[in-house]
Amino acid sequence: MKESKSTGLGLMSLFNKSLCRPCQSALAILLLASASAISAGTTGSNERLSMNNGWRFTKDDPAGVGDKLSYENIKERVLLGRSKLAKEGTLPTNIKGAAILRGDVLYAQNNFNDSQWRQLNLPHDWGVEGEFKQEYPGETGKLPWWGIGWYRKHLTIPATDAGREIYLDVDGAMAYATVWLNGQLVGGWPYGYASWRVDLTPFVKFGADNLLAIRLDNPKESSRWYPGGGIYRNVWLVKTAPVHIAHWGTFVITPEASEQSATVKIQADVDNDTDVDSTVAVKQEIFEIKADGSKGKSVATLASAGIKIAAHQSSSSEGQIVLQHPRLWSIENPQRYVVVTLFEQNGKEIDRYETPFGIRTIQFTADNGFLLNGKRVPLQGVCDHHDLGALGAAINTRALERQVELLKQMGCNAIRTSHNPPAPELLDICDRLGLLVMDEAFDCWQKGKKENDYHRLFADWHEADLRALVRRDRNHPCVILWSIGNEVPDQETPEGPQIAAELRNIVHSEDPTRSVAAGCDKIASGFNDFHKSLDIFGYNYKPFEYAKFWAANPAQPLFGSETASTISSRGEYYFPVTDSQDGGKADFQMSSYDLYAPPWATTPDAEFRGQDENPFVAGEFVWTGFDYLGEPWPYNSDLSYLLNFTDQLAKARLEKELKETGKIGMPSRSSYFGIIDLAGFPKDRFYLYQSRWRPDFPMAHILPHWNWPERVGQVTPVHVYTSGDSAELFLNGKSLGLKKKASFEYRLRWDDVIYQPGELKLVAYKNGRQWATDTVKTTGPAAKLILQPDRSKITADGQDLSFVTVTIADKSGLLVPDRKNHIQFTTYGPGEIIAVDNGDATSFEPFQAKERSAFNGKALVIIRSKPNEPGTIVLKASSSGLVAAEIEIKSKAID
Ligand code: GAL
Repeated sequence: MKESKSTGLGLMSLFNKSLCRPCQSALAILLLASASAISAGTTGSNERLSMNNGWRFTKDDPAGVGDKLSYENIKERVLLGRSKLAKEGTLPTNIKGAAILRGDVLYAQNNFNDSQWRQLNLPHDWGVEGEFKQEYPGETGKLPWWGIGWYRKHLTIPATDAGREIYLDVDGAMAYATVWLNGQLVGGWPYGYASWRVDLTPFVKFGADNLLAIRLDNPKESSRWYPGGGIYRNVWLVKTAPVHIAHWGTFVITPEASEQSATVKIQADVDNDTDVDSTVAVKQEIFEIKADGSKGKSVATLASAGIKIAAHQSSSSEGQIVLQHPRLWSIENPQRYVVVTLFEQNGKEIDRYETPFGIRTIQFTADNGFLLNGKRVPLQGVCDHHDLGALGAAINTRALERQVELLKQMGCNAIRTSHNPPAPELLDICDRLGLLVMDEAFDCWQKGKKENDYHRLFADWHEADLRALVRRDRNHPCVILWSIGNEVPDQETPEGPQIAAELRNIVHSEDPTRSVAAGCDKIASGFNDFHKSLDIFGYNYKPFEYAKFWAANPAQPLFGSETASTISSRGEYYFPVTDSQDGGKADFQMSSYDLYAPPWATTPDAEFRGQDENPFVAGEFVWTGFDYLGEPWPYNSDLSYLLNFTDQLAKARLEKELKETGKIGMPSRSSYFGIIDLAGFPKDRFYLYQSRWRPDFPMAHILPHWNWPERVGQVTPVHVYTSGDSAELFLNGKSLGLKKKASFEYRLRWDDVIYQPGELKLVAYKNGRQWATDTVKTTGPAAKLILQPDRSKITADGQDLSFVTVTIADKSGLLVPDRKNHIQFTTYGPGEIIAVDNGDATSFEPFQAKERSAFNGKALVIIRSKPNEPGTIVLKASSSGLVAAEIEIKSKAID
């Protein structure tokens, strides 16, 4: 590795250059990784301490306070408390001015007695605790996520910290957060998906007890899906010297990168919060990050001559290093590096900051899609909302990692963080596991989609929210594209293009290395001026428009920013099987033949064809990877007609309801869009995407199941997903014929199979050779339970999880596909059940329970370790009439 001196040149011009519209046919984009400050240094150095434990919580507001503290009333004060992300010159940034509101907010007072409040640790989502209620809106999950909640925490800040800066960093709080320290208003941040910082320093009592109070206010009618409620992400206390690295203050880019060499440019912003000018020496050292996440060998060092920062001002240190033979970050080999930035004053370390990053180039082209390190990578992406199923919105790193692992198994290589900033942990996971991310900011701008949508905040907050997102996430190699909005109604207003251009310019001023896109649902937005304000154009659900867009805009890269929206329930199949988009409804479930979608959407197959016919399209982001809470289309709102019921008792009851009230109330509370259900069990569609996205992985999948005693002698279509090119299907040993995939055909169909119980066997071929097989058998009656943990060794840190799949099986161990048996769970040892689920979008059984009905033969138990209690966790499952099951999970001490 070659060392070089800080040049101090070049980088500034890159960071400050006025924003050209990049990416006509190619914007070379480059770069890298997470701005999370990691290390706790010695006194005087940057310290970042978890503030998750030891809170008191109540879900009410003293009489009258709610109105007084409504955002409109305290807006000016909250704006005063906003961090330095406010646009310079236009908004007050000095938080010391926020000490206006004192003394009159009961729950914020140090001496208020909160001993009756509930004790809890963060992250916390008050909505997912339930209960589900029929009268709550299905669109937001039939869970009570709205309302006002208060959190209080006592913290002692040692006298030895006097003279340091003390910040509160919140990764996400839903919503309209207002923060008090020792009874004084510090500031706040209304957007529930943003990460933000407030400066506690002026209000801290050093060497004494301090009382931190956070009030959240979650308005009804503010979301189109389940948003969660509470401090649902991690919270940190950051202590720095008065001269210190700014919040998210580093930016690492690699303007040139190949296997031979890479130029790494590093910018570090320094804040001087003292009354005197200051000079600091900056040292940077780059290390490899090993596969286990620990720091590997040092590969380069860089020292600057020192930078001067005037009193109460900020300044930037810039430098560059050329690395020989760098290991590039890629999907297959996501190699990461870390820059350790050290600030020294008078020979003494005053701050240390670690910035993980990756070395790679990215480029969107108009005629050849997306290139990573110069090679075309089709975007095989999914959109996902932020909830973690039965865990609600409360962030858990392992739960998120499990989602990403499942997506990767399917061949997914990209995630769109629809439609808001994600938890920062998602980006760390994608950096580490090699997935690409389209990082999205908003679901609306000036025009809202709900009465209390983000449009109410847009004027005051869009700039700070967008800068916060980009500054937080711009060092992650996984992030390849910024999205400034999803299906914003402003696409068709006269101001739309101008707003889009303003947002694009904000993004480019924080990160000139990546392109800006938006998900557009209006055909017109590809032809009016709206698309001209975007670097890359994304169509939602428009595979039939790709060719027309390209003909009109041959120089603008295009991708499917949201696709398919196919709907299905795991293990449900309805007959007759029709190809009509709407034909798969029954029992408030959707048939799993993967042929059904809302009117604006398509089957996966139609989208695949759109891309194959138009290879310039960079790829797609399927709606959605996982089912999510809320938006249970087509059962979003009450029905005025009777469905096709298989349960005759339910049918009679609902027929009566329809007659009496003219409508049928929907029980549905989570989506049917997921390729994977809410519990994390793949639906059939998983294998359709796998067959396309992992063409070299030998696989075949038959649907439906083969337990149809009532269909003997009736037509029961069999569909097959395979990465092979042809396949032969056998029923009880008799061939039903060999079928080949025709051009633009993505599944094989035997639509006239006459059902007989027994065995369906498939042999798939590729290029004339046997490639993969699959078998589905008629099972015997349910006889036993089987438990399968995704991990049988976890860490005793109070966070780590084991996801245990419960299967209702026949004697020989085959899943009995329609079983809904009720199961009880017991644990022994240092672990606890934190949630159960089964993937049924209509179930009102609570997630936080020790029992659950199976849905189509499966249920899920989520076990969490207890902190600092290594040992063996035992899980037992029992159900009347079935042989019980028991497994052991080892919880290991933290290394
Ligand atoms: C899109 C929208 C998504 C989701 C989806 C369901 O139009 O962007 O948020 O609502 O429809 O098909």
